[in-house]
Amino acid sequence: MKVAIIGAGYVGLVTGACFASLGNDCLCVDNNEEKIASLKDGIIPFYEPGLEELIKENKERLSFTTSIKEGTDKGEIIFICVPTPSLPNGDVDLTYIEKVSREIACNMEEYRIIVDKSTVPIETGEKVARTISLNNIKKIEFDVVSNPEFLREGSAIYDFMHPDRIVIGSSSKRAIEVMKMLYRPLNAKIISTDIRSAEIIKHAANSFLACKISFANALSVICDATGADINKVTEGMGLDKRIGKDFLNAGIGYGGSCFPKDVLGFIHIAEKYGYDFKLLKAVSEINQEQKKRFLSKVREVLWVIKEKRIGVLGLSFKPNTDDMRDAPSIEIITTLIQEGATIVAYDPKASHKAKNVLSKEVIYVESPYEAAEGADCLLVLTEWEEIKNIDLERIKGLMKYPIIIDGRNIIDKERARALGFEYKGMGR
Ligand code: NAD
Ligand code: UGA
Repeated sequence: MKVAIIGAGYVGLVTGACFASLGNDCLCVDNNEEKIASLKDGIIPFYEPGLEELIKENKERLSFTTSIKEGTDKGEIIFICVPTPSLPNGDVDLTYIEKVSREIACNMEEYRIIVDKSTVPIETGEKVARTISLNNIKKIEFDVVSNPEFLREGSAIYDFMHPDRIVIGSSSKRAIEVMKMLYRPLNAKIISTDIRSAEIIKHAANSFLACKISFANALSVICDATGADINKVTEGMGLDKRIGKDFLNAGIGYGGSCFPKDVLGFIHIAEKYGYDFKLLKAVSEINQEQKKRFLSKVREVLWVIKEKRIGVLGLSFKPNTDDMRDAPSIEIITTLIQEGATIVAYDPKASHKAKNVLSKEVIYVESPYEAAEGADCLLVLTEWEEIKNIDLERIKGLMKYPIIIDGRNIIDKERARALGFEYKGMGR
């Protein structure tokens, strides 16, 4: 099929590359000229495992442009994958979606299926349809579909190609059939719904996952107070199939471009419909508190932060990505620098992006061992495999004082303590 994807970011680029690899003819459109120029030169603007190779392998069926007109001419199916950030009041900013809908409408020459893949509030589909109708001077036939995306950064290609389910929301049987055909090669479970239900499914899924994380984080406070080990507690809970072990890792909380904004967005959506979503307000609050609790642990072991050399392992909001959007490391490092610490940071991939968001005072190094050299204490902020597997004995020999504060609960605490480290986790 001929597919256009508007917005060549994490979701759009992965969608384009994956549909191209399934044999479709794909055109990715982005209004960022620099991004499109580098994509044409084979340079991928962010780190996502396997993406560069997939784009190279499928270059015959994957092209790039800055022109929405070209996208609308080519794509029988047009995916909208533009940002939907939070407004200062937590509401969802839909200006990108509105603008793209208008531009598609002005350029339509024949039947088109416009698919919203961005995460949007209920009723956005109807508003997109209305915007297209208002600007559709030639009265071209079209359908609107909500097809939320559930991929995770760091495993985006795998998630796209092996989805637990595909949600297709539309009032048009014709559009649903075409969408089913497009996704058929994935052999995945498809749920077709009305547009509003599809839109709610996405916010509900992200909010529920955030809920699991905050539940584990709340438990971690009780574990700290009682001397229990949160990792054992969540293992014991998670083995119950009805609960499931995933998304129960306690630590410094969830970050990234989605959970924080989508939880806030869903609270606002609920409010608009007259429901006070107290549960989600607590989820968001618990998430914020975890960073403060972590900082208290740093103060507890160092007493005075001023003039201390603190090694930081991990900066990105999660492993296998260089994405720094809403990374918990930002607030933690900013606070410690304000209190007078020297921060020596290591991240396997995100240092170059961190330089744009963190204080200029941060010193970036090339290995976890360099970060440990002469450090008064070592902080673990991202659960990278490389950091899980660090050589603790070597680290101990390098540090000024052997103190580790593990914000992701990934270090073997028994081993660390046996080696003479003062180890603090989040609830263990
Ligand atoms: P992103 O910022 O990485 O990419 C968005 C792209 O859209 C950017 O390259 C931007 O230049 C482009 N853009 C903005 N306005 C445009 C316009 N008028 N015309 C053409 N291009 C335009 O964002 P993302 O992380 O891919 O997220 C996109 C949407 O998908 C959001 O709603 C997000 O919540 C949702 N989502 C993201 C993920 C994820 O893991 N990142 C997963 C599922 C859903
Ligand atoms: C998340 C969802 O998992 C995807 O399904 C969804 O498509 C996406 O948001 C989105 O809508 O954009 P992502 O943000 O890429 O994906 O990453 P996750 O793996 O979900 O991690 C989010 C954050 O939660 C990270 O900061 C991670 O460290 C943290 N986390 C995750 C925990 O603190 N504990 C856990 O048990 C799991």
